[in-house]
Amino acid sequence: MKLLALSGSLRKASYNTAALEALSSLAPSDIEIQIGNIADLPLYNPDLEGESIPSLDELKAVLAEASGLIIASPEYAHGISGPMKNALDWLVSGEEFPYKPIMLINTSPRACHAQEALKEVLTTMSGILVDSAYVSLPLLSSGLDRDGILADTALCHSLKTGLNNFRTGIEVSSNNRLID
Ligand SMILES: Cc1cc2nc3c(=O)[nH]c(=O)nc-3n(C[C@H](O)[C@H](O)[C@H](O)COP(=O)(O)O)c2cc1C
Repeated sequence: MKLLALSGSLRKASYNTAALEALSSLAPSDIEIQIGNIADLPLYNPDLEGESIPSLDELKAVLAEASGLIIASPEYAHGISGPMKNALDWLVSGEEFPYKPIMLINTSPRACHAQEALKEVLTTMSGILVDSAYVSLPLLSSGLDRDGILADTALCHSLKTGLNNFRTGIEVSSNNRLID
């Protein structure tokens, strides 16, 4: 099973990116998590729809191949981070996103506004939020990087449980679509 993971933070020492890197390391051998790049996308402009944009073409190609999408994104001023919203706006009109199962990771439990806004945007885009896969990790101010997360048993347990539930959610949603 291939999964695409996107971090909404461009920061080098990002907790969101670290959480995705840790999740990727913890994944069982039959799950491959690729961390995608949204940093090189241009600012969204409908006039550019249909033009060849290598960073967007690459993102769409990986998303098309993925059985599910994992998003870890910070809250800025009670909103979705600009890089993440920009990436989602680029994906709105494509055929890769709709009905894609989605796992959300929140690395700052106090950041509830951005999570709610993200859920609204993702469901509007016809993504399938897998609620049982939601993971909340208290990483803010922890100073932890990928290896620090991997050394913490409780954090690893949360990530592994979320990923396991996500796999189940993906299988259920794929069976439901076959029945439909
Ligand atoms: C400009 C800016 C605005 C922020 N606004 C909020 C906010 O409204 N609510 C919140 O909980 N955290 C806020 N934060 C804190 C970030 O969400 C937090 O630092 C987070 O860890 C950043 O994610 P990263 O570690 O993946 O880069 C803000 C940080 C910055 C730099």
